[in-house]
Amino acid sequence: MDCIVFGGSAHPALAGAIAEALGGRLGRLTLTRFPDTELHVEIQETVRGGDVYIVQPTGPPVDQHVMELLFIADACRRAGAVRMTAVVPYFGYARQDRRANGREAIGARLVADLFAAAGFDCLIAVDLHSSALEGFFGLPLEHLSATALLANVIEGVIGRDGIIVAPDLGAVKLAERYSDLLHLPIAIIHKTRLSGEAVRARAVVGEVRGRVPIIVDDMISTGATIEAASRALLDGGAAADMTVIATHALLVGNAIERLAALTLKKILVTDSLALPGRVALPIQVVGLAPMLAEAISRLNVGESLSDMISHR
Ligand code: R5P
Repeated sequence: MDCIVFGGSAHPALAGAIAEALGGRLGRLTLTRFPDTELHVEIQETVRGGDVYIVQPTGPPVDQHVMELLFIADACRRAGAVRMTAVVPYFGYARQDRRANGREAIGARLVADLFAAAGFDCLIAVDLHSSALEGFFGLPLEHLSATALLANVIEGVIGRDGIIVAPDLGAVKLAERYSDLLHLPIAIIHKTRLSGEAVRARAVVGEVRGRVPIIVDDMISTGATIEAASRALLDGGAAADMTVIATHALLVGNAIERLAALTLKKILVTDSLALPGRVALPIQVVGLAPMLAEAISRLNVGESLSDMISHR
């Protein structure tokens, strides 16, 4: 079946790189707004009988990117696409996966339901905030991980005095994966979130004195978690030249200033989200296009992806 790749406005560079890696080009479409701000989507080539992949990380502005994805899918379905896959390297609303205080919406579940309602047959995601989110999706989910890619990049430049640090309890599983891949011990930080932009590191569990921390997380949003972790590690006697590894670099609010004020040696992230142009940070970006293109080409011909999935 013909494989056709579209991209919304969230990350044209990644969508284009995926299409190129697959030996083609991006499908043409227009995204416009009516005067009252309503979105209008029109596909400008035939998708009839095709296997369609729509690349759209649902990062900020999250609602706009979610709606574009749903509208593009609706347009493709109505135009006769036979199969549609959402390629969502970063899934917004993932952190709204439970009710912390009651009387709250569970945004992740609602958006998962909207994907199904729009007619998607499958979802490709990368390093979801938690594996439990897999259960939110009624449609087949290919949950890929960038941990091996990122570990590969960092492997040559870390010494035996390194220590993998989970900056909160939610990152412990991820830290275990990096610990296995890099053969380093683990420390864990007991973090309490005070608000969307403020956290407190209450304690460091593990012997960090004299060691070089490699802080691992699924995402850097405002940078509050990394800032609190870094300060707690310094207080615990860890070396200052720390590394941060995160799949998703949201870098919202004053994250850039916050991270720049720390003693970080390197921040290793992927391009699951479009990064702001020039960032005054020691940031290194690993491209996801080859991995996502490989997943798409296997799905297109019905081949297994099991060796690409390393969450368990
Ligand atoms: C939390 O559970 C996540 O894994 C991240 O630690 C968190 O969302 C990062 O947000 P921020 O950078 O705003 O602290």
